Amino acid sequence: MSGFSADWLALREPFDSRARNASVRDAVVTRLQSYTSVQIVDLACGTGSTLRALSGRLPARQNWRLVDNDLGLLARASATARPRDVTVNATPLDLNRDLEAALDGPVDLVSTSALLDLVSESWLERLSVEIAARAIPFYAALTYDGQIEFSPADATDAAIIAAVNSHQRTDKGFGPALGPSAGTAAITRFEALGYSVIQGRSDWEFCPHDQDIQNEVLAGWASATREVDSLTLAEIAGWLTRRRDIVAAGRSTLRVGHVDFFAAPIGTR
Ligand SMILES: C[S@@+](CC[C@H](N)C(=O)[O-])C[C@H]1O[C@@H](n2cnc3c(N)ncnc32)[C@H](O)[C@@H]1O
Repeated sequence: MSGFSADWLALREPFDSRARNASVRDAVVTRLQSYTSVQIVDLACGTGSTLRALSGRLPARQNWRLVDNDLGLLARASATARPRDVTVNATPLDLNRDLEAALDGPVDLVSTSALLDLVSESWLERLSVEIAARAIPFYAALTYDGQIEFSPADATDAAIIAAVNSHQRTDKGFGPALGPSAGTAAITRFEALGYSVIQGRSDWEFCPHDQDIQNEVLAGWASATREVDSLTLAEIAGWLTRRRDIVAAGRSTLRVGHVDFFAAPIGTR
């Protein structure tokens, strides 16, 4: 599976859904509950996981502007089953180039998930300034925070984690990525812009029977480590084989740290 393939997004969605922080999500819902209709812009929507996670909890009349630069993912997002009062506008845009166009017009909420760790400090600055200039609330879910816990442990885990976190900081199309520091950087930015922020953990917690996703994540980390070039191929292959054996034996648990936050402008409804 490639970085943002529909198959990968489908595999991770149930775990994302379980991981989303309920207190943060409830703050979003409370903020919008008195609206008769809501206009939401979901940035980097993928196949529409935020639409599926939120829409059943929001006022009945909703319009979602779903933004992504992958037409295949956007088509799947548009096909999400939904009530008649929930309308969707699939909007193909490169957010690095055309962020401002994504935010045009009346918007009650900007949302995103699993995006902020991919973006650069300068793009985050641009995003936060554009959102704050329009006084829009912002919900960002599932930002990776660099914390990985394997059980049982392997002597090479720490070197792999360091390599993964180094790879996280490479350019993903928005300039050098913030990677594990993205959540803290974003929260600090919005607070500096006069927003009130509620945050909470949204870690992936994979149990021994969650074998497919564990194997997929391990393979992705092995590839990332190869690209960073800090371990030999034999070291990476040995680590991957040992970890996959533990998964196959039904003994592997894995925690991957994420953070969710909701930033609301102070003093507006
Ligand atoms: C990790 S996926 C998250 C997808 C979805 N938000 C979710 O949580 O399932 C990252 C998404 O960012 C989109 N993306 C990456 N770079 C982009 C860009 N420059 N402009 C628009 N979308 C982009 C990808 O196509 C992908 O859908």
